[in-house]
Amino acid sequence: MSESREQWGSKIGLIFAMAGNAIGLGNFWRFPYQAASNGGGAFMIPYFAALIIIGIPIMLIEWNLGRYGGKYGHGTLAPMVYLQAREGVKPKTAAVLGAIAGMMAFAVTLLVNSYYLQIIGWTLGYSYLSVSGGYMDAAKSTGEVFVNYIQTPGLVFTFWIIALAMLGYTVMKGVQKGIETWAKIMMPILYIFGIVLAVRALTIGSPVNPDWSSMKGLSYIWNPDFSALSWKSAIAAAGQIFFTLSIGMGIICNYASYLQPDDDVVVSSFATISLNEFAEIILGGTAVIPIAYAFMGPDGVGAGVGLSFIALPNVFRAMGGGQFVGALWFLLLFFAGFTSAIAMYNYLVALLEEDLGITRVKGAMIMFFAYIAVGLPVGLEPVLTKTADLAYLTEVDNWVGSYLLIVLGLVEICVVAFLMGDKALEEINRGGIWQIPSWFFNVFHKFLTPISIAILLIFSTLDYIKAGYFRAVPSFVENSPILVPWVNGARVVIIVVLVAGFMQSYKSIKTKYAKELSENEVSIRVG
Ligand code: PHE
Repeated sequence: MSESREQWGSKIGLIFAMAGNAIGLGNFWRFPYQAASNGGGAFMIPYFAALIIIGIPIMLIEWNLGRYGGKYGHGTLAPMVYLQAREGVKPKTAAVLGAIAGMMAFAVTLLVNSYYLQIIGWTLGYSYLSVSGGYMDAAKSTGEVFVNYIQTPGLVFTFWIIALAMLGYTVMKGVQKGIETWAKIMMPILYIFGIVLAVRALTIGSPVNPDWSSMKGLSYIWNPDFSALSWKSAIAAAGQIFFTLSIGMGIICNYASYLQPDDDVVVSSFATISLNEFAEIILGGTAVIPIAYAFMGPDGVGAGVGLSFIALPNVFRAMGGGQFVGALWFLLLFFAGFTSAIAMYNYLVALLEEDLGITRVKGAMIMFFAYIAVGLPVGLEPVLTKTADLAYLTEVDNWVGSYLLIVLGLVEICVVAFLMGDKALEEINRGGIWQIPSWFFNVFHKFLTPISIAILLIFSTLDYIKAGYFRAVPSFVENSPILVPWVNGARVVIIVVLVAGFMQSYKSIKTKYAKELSENEVSIRVG
């Protein structure tokens, strides 16, 4: 089965591609505002705990799921989870577990990208505004500039389609010629941009107020503040670990499916995590938070979701060479986002190839139009309602981009640790340059990781109830009736996609493993 599958061209190419997958807007846009709005130093404590207890163990099992599934010719999560679940339960039960996992991965790769691609479009548009001086005029607040941007169809749709077309073209070229080649170009540039920005940030001094300096901004995130710890910041931190490492999405598994059965996964997992964390903490943390702190002080840092698009342009206005630094910053966001969005795009193209026998080129074209369809509401909402709340995006992000990742993480860890069990450890260590000791697997995979994810899920659910996300009219649109249909529309879309994802995933397993399922005994094995 595996002969016909594509392979990565080189080890270094694979590592760049995986780093490109993990390093995304999550590192440079999401991390700074999450850290800042959850108390800076207080956020970093649960952040590191979650990295070790959840991030490392899940990264390892996702590489393992992917490489193992790849051996059987699979690039998507449903059959991958099925294959490991059937080691512990009967095929019929395993098929249901596989379909549940596949359903969530389908929803994440389709719907997270539906808004992620819009944001990538904004980064490209803002690179253009930086060069053209579009936000330099001090008469207009940067908030107004942003609102004007997202309400101007010409800007929003042009840059979105350009980004989407570039992505489609890359995925069409295939794993080695497309994804790997782009990652090898984009990732080094991204690191260089990040380092230039970080150095600029640290040398900025106190340009506005002697009490505000970039160094103070640094100590704001690096001084652990145990007194400000809260469940809210712990959930935010763990959620950030899922998002930034691209775990609970199925896309690490997809990239790992293009490995050879004996390629190492242990060192590669650690390499992916290290490269991502360097980009997140050192580059993302050093560039954004200190620059924002130096110009806007402690209150400005907590500007929330808009930090990148609303707060930072203020800084670029006020600093020497601001147009240049601004363009550098938004291009960095673009590169980071692009190499992550490729991974989501590729997942769905792999699904079309695998389950419907559609060629890669055709699959990439079909997904281009599918992403236009699911992305339209995100782009249209501000244009049609003349608001800037982005309620549709918020609703999809709350459920699919945050909640589902955790649920999927729990399903994966339970299947691998308890159903595949010790065979999974053997699989992880196969061909490994480093070996994961069995005490680690027993302590983390079988105990700490699933328990912490379960606790996390319970508290996030409580948090969601409190925040009113379960209500017919959720709290964030209470005062804007015009947005209620957008939120309910998002809910309908999510439900439809989940149902379609389940049926698709179940059918995929059923077609490939028909014999096993009818006999309810495992019989198909690959070397
Ligand atoms: N890890 C990615 C990031 O940090 C997450 C992601 C991947 C999001 C692909 C969307 C698409 O941005």
